Amino acid sequence: MANVVVIGTQWGDEGKGKVVDLLTEKADCVVRFQGGNNAGHTLVVNNQKYIFHLIPSGILHQGKTCLIGNGVVIDPGVLIEEMDRLQEHGFAVTPENLVVSRYAHIIMPYHRALDMAREKRKGRTKIGTTGRGIGPCYEDKVSRSGIRVHDLLDPKSFSEKLHRNLEEKNFLLRHFFEEEPLDPAAIEDEYLAYGERLAPFAGNVSEFLHNADREGKNLLFEGAQGTHLDIDHGTYPFVTSSNTVAGNACCGAGIGPTRIHKVFGVVKAYTTRVGCGPFPTELLDDTGIRIREIGGEFGATTGRPRRCGWLDMVVVNTAIRLNGLSGLVITKLDVLTGIPVLNIATAYQCGPGQRETVPPELEAMEACKPVLEEFPGWGEDIRRVRRFADLPHNTKNYLRAIEERARMPLAIISVGPARDETIILRDPFENS
Ligand code: GDP
Ligand code: IMO
Ligand code: MG
Repeated sequence: MANVVVIGTQWGDEGKGKVVDLLTEKADCVVRFQGGNNAGHTLVVNNQKYIFHLIPSGILHQGKTCLIGNGVVIDPGVLIEEMDRLQEHGFAVTPENLVVSRYAHIIMPYHRALDMAREKRKGRTKIGTTGRGIGPCYEDKVSRSGIRVHDLLDPKSFSEKLHRNLEEKNFLLRHFFEEEPLDPAAIEDEYLAYGERLAPFAGNVSEFLHNADREGKNLLFEGAQGTHLDIDHGTYPFVTSSNTVAGNACCGAGIGPTRIHKVFGVVKAYTTRVGCGPFPTELLDDTGIRIREIGGEFGATTGRPRRCGWLDMVVVNTAIRLNGLSGLVITKLDVLTGIPVLNIATAYQCGPGQRETVPPELEAMEACKPVLEEFPGWGEDIRRVRRFADLPHNTKNYLRAIEERARMPLAIISVGPARDETIILRDPFENS
């Protein structure tokens, strides 16, 4: 038995969805614990592509329970649409395979409106959010005025909270942002209908997981975003509004730290970032464009082109520290095929000195230049390779360099988007 957390080590889109889908085979429960539909997790199963924003990436497997923890912010319209789309593809989503925490906060239309109005007003200094209302929803949670799943199930309480909140939000929208105010009656009708639809799925995720854990079941926790988008530890303010690090699996699902046995960090074989903020190894040349085209680096949520750059071990090593990683999963290695010379950043040159971890302040990070080490590339197609030994010599060298600089064993190597395009070296649910 093992309980495993999977998180992103960079700025998101590392391939967490593929990895979680793959590991679900040996898990019993798959749990989202933070973020919302700012996430876009892509799975390719039987040549069919699925993108999940809220439903955990284990949902395509039979006989597993997917759970959305209290730490997630839920846009109910998006969740219901995702359930319907799965149904259309022949995957039933029922209270037997999906449980939604009664304590998760709900994203309201005014959260989306405020998110977009703020970005518009910031202009050049904007964060580049996904516009999904994530920040404003977490703000209300922390200011103790949020609306939770259980409120949707109680029309009287919901109506009271909605009107109280909307009074303040409409004032802001109208008088500060000079945007259109929102109509409470329309929101009330829409959201109470969502409540009716979601009522059978609402439950106590913490209790469910506690019981499953006691029965010796394997729990798999699916992180969203990436370590450097963490509200505390990321490149603030160019971050998301939740803690994306592994420690939050406990708070966001309602379990204790002694119940986590392994933490796997997903590392894309290069680096990408969507939205604004520092990115020391960014490539603004033809190689960056090539990686974007071959890697399909366009946002799964907003369709925005992702910024691309070399692998940055300063970023990865900082993630190893912040998450207490026990293993690394390398993804999208195949995308680097055909690039004659590859680079890895091993340190940052910051003024006269070098450093091997990300500086905590934005200004310091912006002043850093990456120290790059060159590696010869490979031309062979690696997507059919299933054993480490069968990889080309230069690919093995590149992987060993990562392992050495991370001082951490590689557990899984992904060489394509499909489930089976994978080399497994260490299975987190075995050897526990
Ligand atoms: P997530 O947000 O971390 O789940 O990652 P995304 O789904 O946003 O982005 C990862 C993209 O890369 C998706 O389109 C995946 O299908 C794809 N992908 C995952 N692993 C691999 C891989 O090893 N090779 C290639 N070529 N694509 C991959
Ligand atoms: P997954 O789970 C990549 C980024 C946004 C923006 C910043 C803040 O698919 O890896 P927000 O809407 O959260 O307030 O935006 O965070 N961002 C992501 N970037 N992958 C994600 O999720 C992201 N979720 C948010 O682009 O820079
Ligand atoms: Mg994504």
